[in-house]
Amino acid sequence: MEISLREVSFAYKVGDRPLPVLESINVRVAPGDFLAITGSGGSGKSTLAMLMAGLLEPVAGRVILDGKPVRGRGKGKTHSAWHKVGMVFQQPEQQLFAETVADDVAFGPGNLGFTGSELETRVEEALRAVGLDPQKIGGHSPFRLSGGQQRRVAIAGVLAMDPEVLILDEPTAGLDPAGREQVLGVIRSFYRRPGKAVVLISHNMAEVAAMARQVIVLYQGRVALQGTPREIFRQGEALKTYGLIPPPLTRLMQELQRRGAPVSPEIFTLAEARAAILAWLGA
Ligand SMILES: Nc1ncnc2c1ncn2[C@@H]1O[C@H](COP(=O)(O)OP(=O)(O)O)[C@@H](O)[C@H]1O
Ligand SMILES: [Mg+2]
Repeated sequence: MEISLREVSFAYKVGDRPLPVLESINVRVAPGDFLAITGSGGSGKSTLAMLMAGLLEPVAGRVILDGKPVRGRGKGKTHSAWHKVGMVFQQPEQQLFAETVADDVAFGPGNLGFTGSELETRVEEALRAVGLDPQKIGGHSPFRLSGGQQRRVAIAGVLAMDPEVLILDEPTAGLDPAGREQVLGVIRSFYRRPGKAVVLISHNMAEVAAMARQVIVLYQGRVALQGTPREIFRQGEALKTYGLIPPPLTRLMQELQRRGAPVSPEIFTLAEARAAILAWLGA
């Protein structure tokens, strides 16, 4: 599945006035892509995520799924292609509602028409994919789980619909470090499966650096920067203008270089930092 936004603009209606939020956005995600969308608060990240998931419709420009211009989800019956796009909202655990974990995860695939053992299999696989034991936890009330577990149940509910593109809006926000690592692990293993694509909304630069292949920086509703993590994070000054700072590792390397160490300021992974520091110390 390929999602393409061409010259998309969006405005919310406040009273009867339009509030412009996104302006002439071009984005494309295809199988194998891992796109991070970042930017300071209010830059339009969540709105863009909802446009990419068909939950909002542009006021200008086009949304194209696998080459076909489409309307939003639920508008007209011909565009069931949206089923292949899964959206994990910010704080998705707030939308848990069922009496048991299994029922909650079954809600989405149930709506897609799955029943019986096929539905059960999907629920079990989705729970396993997020590191929860369906036998142990399937019958529990979701409300008795920890915050991190609740969030994983909510993500399982989306995975159970077997999306090809997974869009996640700030999926680790508010979790403790262990919970954050677990959620990132779930996203990584989803992405490892053939034909999948991930769109990760995050303002955590360390997370973006560790996960994404491509990065878009939004600023006041426009695409301010676009490129690989390396291309983005070496622009420390530009990032600052857009209310962001490079990931801690990159800043450490930039600081070491400033103090005369022969290390590259474009490093953003632990492995690269380790190699650079060892080479420096060894020299
Ligand atoms: N439902 C809404 N109605 C009116 N304005 C909204 C609504 N949702 C978001 N906004 C406004 O749109 C802008 C972008 O919001 P959002 O997409 O949530 O940004 P981000 O996710 O980057 O913080 C902000 O100015 C925000 O106040
Ligand atoms: Mg947001």
